[in-house]
Parts: sequence; structure tokens; C-alpha cells
Amino acid sequence: MKQENRPTMDQTVQQYIEWFRYSSAYINAHRNKVFVILITGEALADENFPNIVYDISLLNSLGVKLVLVHGARPQISDALRKAGIESRYHRNLRISDPQSLAAIKETVGRLTIDIEAQFSLGLINSPMHGSDIRLSRGNFITARPFGVHDGVDFFNTGLVRKVQRDAIERQLSQGNIVLLSNLGYSCTGEVFNLSAEQVAMETATALRADKLILFIPGRGVLDTEGNLINSLSPEGARNYLRDHEDSGDQEQKVTNDALAAAIKASEGKVNRVHLISHQQNGALLQELFTREGNGTLVSNDSFEELRQAYIGDVGGILELIKPLEQAGTLVQRSRELLETEVTNFKVVAWEGMLIACAALYPLENASGEIACIAIHPDYQKRGLGRRLLSSLEREARSRQLERVFILTTAATHWFLENGFRQSSVDELPESKKQLYNYQRNSKVLVKEL
Ligand SMILES: CC(C)(COP(=O)(O)OP(=O)(O)OC[C@H]1O[C@@H](n2cnc3c(N)ncnc32)[C@H](O)[C@@H]1OP(=O)(O)O)[C@@H](O)C(=O)NCCC(=O)NCCS
Repeated sequence: MKQENRPTMDQTVQQYIEWFRYSSAYINAHRNKVFVILITGEALADENFPNIVYDISLLNSLGVKLVLVHGARPQISDALRKAGIESRYHRNLRISDPQSLAAIKETVGRLTIDIEAQFSLGLINSPMHGSDIRLSRGNFITARPFGVHDGVDFFNTGLVRKVQRDAIERQLSQGNIVLLSNLGYSCTGEVFNLSAEQVAMETATALRADKLILFIPGRGVLDTEGNLINSLSPEGARNYLRDHEDSGDQEQKVTNDALAAAIKASEGKVNRVHLISHQQNGALLQELFTREGNGTLVSNDSFEELRQAYIGDVGGILELIKPLEQAGTLVQRSRELLETEVTNFKVVAWEGMLIACAALYPLENASGEIACIAIHPDYQKRGLGRRLLSSLEREARSRQLERVFILTTAATHWFLENGFRQSSVDELPESKKQLYNYQRNSKVLVKEL
């Protein structure tokens, strides 16, 4: 059949098919893997929670072995307030005295039942129709008392003593989702109020989980400019915590608690810890099934830190691009020019050294230009170029740009392989067209976003 006679397909359907094909690699990669997911009390209370339930159910249907850990912090505070019981804290930990414990047990029990109900939803017009999810819960977490500190008795506030790994694994092998809460049980038959972050972290460590996923509020872990931080080494996460000490802001506190758990989990050999916004519809799926992601990965593997550049990076960028300028691969940029344009750059740092950079320049007509992409020769072919490009494309999208151009003399094929198509000087926005250097004769490529 000739091309022009082929039936045309609705563009949305086409995109959907493309996306579905594209995600198959991720589906295969995640099958039979163990993920521990922390759903904080804040996430449970959010209007997006039903969507999180759908997405978790989908993971279960795709063969991911799931352990869910739910928290109850804001709900417990509410319940205590309503019961006229004062919430008492010491060292940032709730004191679970006998009076509070009754309200804590009641609140957590109610939340657990509500979660079970949500996962049982199978109405014909719901995304979970036919999913047949089985949740399993029990005394999988053994606890011990936190004790008396600074003369303060914490009563039934506890710490995780042991995770019943074999029992959890038996449930997972049967395809059940294991549901844990922030309550643990002691050998003396007592109930202890634990930190849900600690339960999630210890469970992921005990199971040697492939991923620990922690839901956090807001847009995610952001740098000082408000940009999402895509990845952090445990060392980078420690630095972040040092720079973002608790300021009394509740969202920041939840994020910091999650980061502290992520650091501990990385020390416990959980290699991939994802911090994902609980407020964004589909953030979990985007993080797990797209290259761009939608959260912050804390990993020992990704020791490189991708971040927004700031003025202190100018020296490092100059050093990185000098050999490429000398070879004629990149156009020359003076220190002064870089100082004014540095906020357009993203960089990848490793142990304080810049090993990669790239810039995004917004142009007219919802267009942008990606420029000055450079990976240090020792760090090429490790996916850094691709990660930088994805990060700039995501930023371009968030700035409502519809396409990005690239002018290149040396890496045409690399850009073609990364979704760009051949374009021409004529297609460039006017301001860029006028500056086009015919002597340099760069190839013009474009990518629709
Ligand atoms: C082009 C560049 C950005 C790619 O970065 P990277 O981190 O090495 O790329 P990735 O790891 O994401 O991709 C690696 C793949 O791209 C290929 N590749 C690298 N440079 C390429 C080029 N110039 N042309 C075609 N393919 C290239 C590699 O061979 C590798 O493919 P393989 O896995 O099949 O072997 C990097 O090589 C670089 O900085 N080059 C010098 C500067 C430059 O040319 N910049 C572009 C000017 S606008």
C-alpha cells in the first residue's frame, strides 16, 4: 500500500501507542522486583490518594512485589486534639503515653481499614475494575521501646527491632501486597507507635528491596531556585539536609524525614530510593516508566548530581568546554558572557567537580535552543548526555516551549538518536536565524516537545 493511502490515526492514539511501546522496557525491568512504598499520613489525606491507589494497583498487575507502609501523623494529631489530649514531643518524637496510645491505635486501625477498602474498589467504571488486589497484613514488625531519654519517658513510642522477612516474602510470593503501618508489636504483647519512615526503611533493608519509594509533599525535592533535583548521592542528600534544616515548615519536615530515611536505606544497601510528590497525579508512573522521571533518585550508583548551575560554576564550565572550543566543536564563550548566562545552564557535578554541562535558551515563538552540551571525556557513554538533555527538555516543557533547536557540527547522529529531526536555517526563529554563522555551517536539528 502506498504511504498516502494508509488510514490516518488520531494523534492522541498514536502518542498513546508510542508511549505504551516505549514503556515495555520498564515493564520488563520492574517485573518480580520488590518495591517498598511509604505512604505518609499526609499522602493518605491528599485528594490525589485515589490516583496513587490506582497506580500502585497497576504496579501489582504488572508483577511488581509490593510492600506498602502507611503513616498516620496528621491524623493522630487530629484525633488527639479532638479527644482533648495534648500532643507531647521530645527530640522531635511523639510521646505515646497510655492515654494517647488508645487514640493512636484507633486512628491507625481506621486508616488501615480505609486503605484496604480503597484497594478493594472494583467498580466497572473505575481504573481498578478486574484488578483483584489482595492485601495482607499482620504482626510483621517487631518493636522495642524507645526508652527514657533526658529523663523523659517515651512510653509506647518505639523502634523497629526486627522485620519478619520470611513471613513478608511468603506473602509477596503469592502475589499479595503486604500492608504495614506505623504500629509494631513487642514480644511482651505491647503495641508501639513507630516512625513510618523507619518501618519503610528497615523493611526495604531487610528485604533487600530493589526500590524504596517515599511519597513527599509539594513538587518534590527542590533546589534553592525551586528546580526539581533529579538525583542525589547519599552525600548530596546529607548536604541538602544541612542546607535545609527544619524551619518549622511542615512540608520541609516531611521531605527531610524522607531524605534521612533515604540516606539510611542507601547505607543499608537499598540502591535506589525515589522521593516522589504525592500531590501530582501520575507522578509514580512517570518516575518508574519514563526516562525523564518525576522525582528525586537517591542512589549510591548515581554519584553524579544533576543540578541547576550557579555563578560559582562558571570556572568549572569554562574548563569543561575549553578543549571543545579549541577543537571547534563548540563556539567560544567568554567568562563575562557565561557569567550573565549561567542560569541557563544545568551541570552534573561529581565530588565537587563539574563533569557535564548543557544550556537551554528560550527564543521567540514557543521555541528554545539547547546549546553547549559537553560531557567530560572520562564520563562519556554513561548516559549523562541523555540525562542532561531530558532534564533540559522537561524544563523547556515547563516553560511552555513547544520545540527545541540544536545547532551542531559534531553530534548530529547523537541528537537524531535522541529524538531530534533534521531541520534548516529557515525553520529557526528569526532572532537565531540572523545570528546563524554560515561559515561554521552547523546542522540545524529540532525536536517537538
Ligand atoms: C555528544 C555527547 C554530548 C554525548 O554524551 P554522552 O554522555 O557520551 O552520551 P550518552 O551516554 O547519553 O550516549 C552515548 C551514545 O552516544 C554515542 N555518541 C556519543 N557521541 C556521539 C556523536 N558525536 N555522534 C554520534 N553518536 C555519539 C555513543 O557512541 C554512545 O552510543 P553507544 O552506547 O551505542 O556506544 C558527548 O559525547 C560530548 O560531550 N561530546 C563532545 C561535545 C559535543 O559534541 N557536543 C555537542 C555539540 S552541540
